[in-house]
Amino acid sequence: MHKYFAKPLFLGKKVQFLPECHSTNEELMKWIRKHDTAEGFLIYTDNQLKGKGQRGNIWLSEPGKNLLFSFLILPKFLLPKQFFILNLISGLAMVKVLKKNIQNKKIELKWPNDAYVEDRKIAGILIETSIESSAVKNAVVGIGLNVNQDHFQLPSATSMKIESDRIYDREGLLESYLVCFEGYYLKIKGRDFSRILQEYYKVMRWRGENHSFKSNGHGFAGEILGIDGVGKLIVNVGGQIRKFDVKEIEFLY
Ligand code: BTN
Repeated sequence: MHKYFAKPLFLGKKVQFLPECHSTNEELMKWIRKHDTAEGFLIYTDNQLKGKGQRGNIWLSEPGKNLLFSFLILPKFLLPKQFFILNLISGLAMVKVLKKNIQNKKIELKWPNDAYVEDRKIAGILIETSIESSAVKNAVVGIGLNVNQDHFQLPSATSMKIESDRIYDREGLLESYLVCFEGYYLKIKGRDFSRILQEYYKVMRWRGENHSFKSNGHGFAGEILGIDGVGKLIVNVGGQIRKFDVKEIEFLY
């Protein structure tokens, strides 16, 4: 197993592999509470017993088949209201890795950062931050990417193997993700947000289309217009422009 990843500049230079754990996000947060930890420290595992998803969901993954990892970033240059940009770049980095490996398939991001291949979810990202003196002090970026798994309970899930009919070297993919993430991270350090948004729009699922959504228990139809300056989803609902936080809207069909 790797002690560090050679290709990235600062991510994954110190690495811990755990054969099994509850959740790599939890492990990393526990670690940084106890130790002074350098940016880029990464924990990955072959099996999570309590994998965490967004909105309190669980993340299921067959042991030894997929990628489950979390790394630490220290984005002190971001204001809390700019945090959403981390969601965008973590998703864009995933799209880059997927496009390099899976040809001729539709690869998209469901807002904010779920990666989809041909309308089935292939990767999920959970970023957990801690804020101090109104700045993002640290952020744990947790990624679950379905790599070599053949079957899923949910028909709406897929893997790289299913989509491209080959088996992948998981650590090679992990390293490639870190390199891509770093590229975007350095761009946002230089405050280059507008280009990020333009790039995001090119792969944003359902943008400019009419779909059904649910908010506060009510279903409605609308057209996704884009993302506002604090990362909210902008939806045109029958001529009325409405904005939603991640927790406020569910995508139906
Ligand atoms: C989602 O709901 O789409 C986000 C899923 C995030 C799963 C990853 S797996 C590695 C890391 N550790 C966790 O407990 N969750 C994230």
